[in-house]
Amino acid sequence: MTALADTAANDVEAYLDRHEKKSMLRFITCGSVDDGKSTLIGRLLYDSKLLYEDQIADLEADSKKVGTQGGEIDFALLVDGLAAEREQGITIDVAYRFFSTDRRKFIVADTPGHEQYTRNMATGASTADLAILLVDARQGVLTQTRRHSFIASLLGIRRIVVAVNKMDLIDYDRGRFDAIEAEYRAFADGLGFDSIVCIPISALKGDNVAEKSAATSWHHGPALLPYLETVDIDREGDEAADFRMPVQWVNRPNLDFRGFAGTIAAGVARPGDDIVVVPSGKRSRIASIVSMNGALDAAGRDQSITLTLEDEIDVSRGDLICAGGAPAQQTDQFAANLIWMAEEALLPGRQYVLKTDNQTTTATVTELKHKINVNTLERQPAKTLDLNEVAFCNFSLGQPIAFDPYKENRRTGSFILIDKLTNATVAAGMIDFSLRRAQNVHWQDLDIDKAARARAKHQRPCILWFTGLSGSGKSTIANLVEKRLADIGRHTYILDGDNVRHGLNKDLGFTDADRVENIRRVGETARLMVDAGMIVLVSFISPFTSERRMARDLVEDGEFIEIHVETPLEVCEARDVKGLYARARRGEIKNFTGIDSAYEAPAAPEIRVDTTERSAEQAAAEIVDFLDARGYLAAR
Ligand code: ADX
Repeated sequence: MTALADTAANDVEAYLDRHEKKSMLRFITCGSVDDGKSTLIGRLLYDSKLLYEDQIADLEADSKKVGTQGGEIDFALLVDGLAAEREQGITIDVAYRFFSTDRRKFIVADTPGHEQYTRNMATGASTADLAILLVDARQGVLTQTRRHSFIASLLGIRRIVVAVNKMDLIDYDRGRFDAIEAEYRAFADGLGFDSIVCIPISALKGDNVAEKSAATSWHHGPALLPYLETVDIDREGDEAADFRMPVQWVNRPNLDFRGFAGTIAAGVARPGDDIVVVPSGKRSRIASIVSMNGALDAAGRDQSITLTLEDEIDVSRGDLICAGGAPAQQTDQFAANLIWMAEEALLPGRQYVLKTDNQTTTATVTELKHKINVNTLERQPAKTLDLNEVAFCNFSLGQPIAFDPYKENRRTGSFILIDKLTNATVAAGMIDFSLRRAQNVHWQDLDIDKAARARAKHQRPCILWFTGLSGSGKSTIANLVEKRLADIGRHTYILDGDNVRHGLNKDLGFTDADRVENIRRVGETARLMVDAGMIVLVSFISPFTSERRMARDLVEDGEFIEIHVETPLEVCEARDVKGLYARARRGEIKNFTGIDSAYEAPAAPEIRVDTTERSAEQAAAEIVDFLDARGYLAAR
């Protein structure tokens, strides 16, 4: 019995040893809902005979590694299928499945195939070596096929397998297969893939999956699994890449030891190597590399390590430790490709949260250069981006980030955008290049500052931000407040929608995108006026929470007073001072706030004014009292 157990143990050990040495191929599968992805993956798992418990445990350890590596995008980590999760009503982005054959280990990122799931595909693709595009033989190349190919190319995937599935349903018709292959190659020609291999398969019947099928004797290429086992994956590039490690935390168990922990994003680290820290620019040399298994002579991509340095230099969480000869760049303005993944459109000028692997800041699209028609790969002008659209944009950030162009490093070159209000991931981005402007334009510090200017005016500068529907009474009340303030010698200015739209903003209309830009400019103008020491009264519908928040964030705490003029729509419409509601109802004016364009009421304004209960005079008096009580009308 002991002998037997020993043999079994030896077998497992020998197996694990071989398993350990096998190379790993990461791939994604993509296609439309009914193209047969699940069947194909099931078939691959079945044919690769994933059997041993030990093996599964081993692979689970791998899954953790992938998890940290994919940190730039919120990966869902699963060893097993989507089905169980669906039953529990959890939406998952990507399921990672692991399997292995005698020759290779595999991780497949399985992404749900609905149109709206492009985001999942992008998530899974960002670490993949290869993409399998499933095409239904009966349907041929679809928009979805082209979109996924384009995104795969943007995400840096160099190898494509077109698996033309359901061949059994078209009697293994060679003519049909050849036509699909020709159409696909003609389209993909412009995408710069290193290799495209087309394979006729039946995921259901197993034709050309694990072995070549007799039913397609005319097919001279490989079957799928043997191809995946032998396709060349260029890992030499990994060695040659410049060293990058984002610092996840600083270890300081005692005063003599400071270690910087993180997962290597690129390149190789060895004791003695020169390093430079971005952004500080401080230099040193690697003293030691420590891992869970003790000290190492070298460590490479995806390894989690702690570095100690020869010199005591300042390094903090969020810094990027780089190869001494090749530091990452730093910028707060860049151009990037963007894949939009949200139902709600991208609005240039709106503030989003930008996350890289280890940094978080705010970001706005300052210019949408063009979007790409995924069917023709043509560039098209655009004002906004809808779900699944891809565009090239300029960005401006709240704070500089360390980065490499995506082409050089898929990890330090990528980011996601998060909606500030919903916290949902709305886009994936790939940085192309820094816009030099960031380095050349500096804020000029002046001798006479805001405090000095405010003192001279005997007031605390602030923005009184009036928001509410058209006809709610914003301008009337703002006008009365200004008169009262002028009477007591305060320095004020009114920015009013109707007036500003005649000058500064006369190029803007009433689409969501234009309203965002309208409010962005007004917010910036109001900020300059606060800096000039003024009390600024801003009277704009300003229908979106996001941009009012942005305007608030432009100034200091206490300098933004939001006043919701809460007149109900029925009342505004009944008054209809300018006759605009009647015209909007007749369909003569489009995108009219309250009729066919949204108004998002403030959740917690500093002041609410109900004009159905108070006269404009009363409301103005209350606002001035508010300012007086809180010290805005006296010098500090
Ligand atoms: S905002 O939404 O971008 O803040 P803003 O306050 O500048 O709007 O302009 C609103 C004024 O423009 C309204 O008071 C009204 O007189 C006029 N207007 C013209 N078309 C529209 C429209 N489609 N929606 C709202 N207001 C409109």
